[in-house]
Amino acid sequence: MAEQNEHGLAFGIDVGGSGIKGAPVDLATGEFAADRRRIPTPHKSTPEAVADVLAELVDGFDLPDDAPIGVAFPAPLDHGVVRFIANLHKSWKGVDLPALVQEATGRKAVAVNDADAAGVGEQRYGAAKGHDGVVLVATLGTGIGSALLVDGILVPNTELGHLEIDGHDAEHRAAESARDRDDLSWEKWAKRLQRYFETVEMLLSPDLIVVGGGVSKHHEKYLPLLDLRAEIIPAELRNRAGIVGAASMAARPH
Ligand code: BGC
Repeated sequence: MAEQNEHGLAFGIDVGGSGIKGAPVDLATGEFAADRRRIPTPHKSTPEAVADVLAELVDGFDLPDDAPIGVAFPAPLDHGVVRFIANLHKSWKGVDLPALVQEATGRKAVAVNDADAAGVGEQRYGAAKGHDGVVLVATLGTGIGSALLVDGILVPNTELGHLEIDGHDAEHRAAESARDRDDLSWEKWAKRLQRYFETVEMLLSPDLIVVGGGVSKHHEKYLPLLDLRAEIIPAELRNRAGIVGAASMAARPH
C-alpha cells in the first residue's frame, strides 16, 4: 500500500472514453501542483495502447521518485481487476490494472473506478466534504458513474449507471452523451434525469446527491428542473474530481 510521500504529492490519472488526463496533486489542498495534460484516448483503446499513453503522460512531468500513481478507470474494479467494460475496448476484461500501470511507469499504482475516485475527491476536498449519512455522487459523461459514500466510507463499484429503467440501460438514456447524441434540450434531458434520479432515490434514499462530470458546470440549466426528496447539488471539483480522488486514494486508500 502506498504511503503519503514526503512531498505530499501523488499523480492522478483519469482514463476516459475520449481523453486520458493527468496531473500531480497536492494532497494537502486537492489542487493540481502543475497544469493538467490531456492525451486523446487511442482509437483502439486496448490495454497495451492505453498503457503507452499512461507512460507518456507520467514521463511528461518532473515527479518525485516516490510519488505514487492513482488511476481512475471507467469500469468496476475487483481489487484492481477489470470486471466488465462498457465504453473502452472489450479486451480490458480481466486485466489487473495496478500491475499494468506499475509495469508501464515503474511506479507504485492503485486503480479505482472513475466515479468512486470522483466521489472520494468530492468527499475529501469538494461538495460532499463534511456530509455524513448516505451520499451519492453521480458523474454524467460518456456513461453514468456512481459513488456511494456512507458516513464518509466508500461502498465501491456500485455501477448505478447500468440500472435498467423502463427497459433501457440507464446511462444510454440519461448520460451527457445521450443529450448530445439525441440532440436534447435541457428540459428534455432533465426529464430523463428526473426518471433516473427518482429511481435511484427510491432504491437508496440518499441524503445528498452530488452531480459531477464536465456538464456539472451547466448545472443551473437542469438541476433546478429536478424534483427530488434529497438535496441535489453540483460537484465542486467537476472534471478534476477523478484525477484528484485517484491521487488522494493512491496515498490514502480509505
Ligand atoms: C461504467 C462505470 C463508470 C461509468 C462512468 C459506466 O459505463 O460501467 O464503471 O464509472 O461508466 O465512466
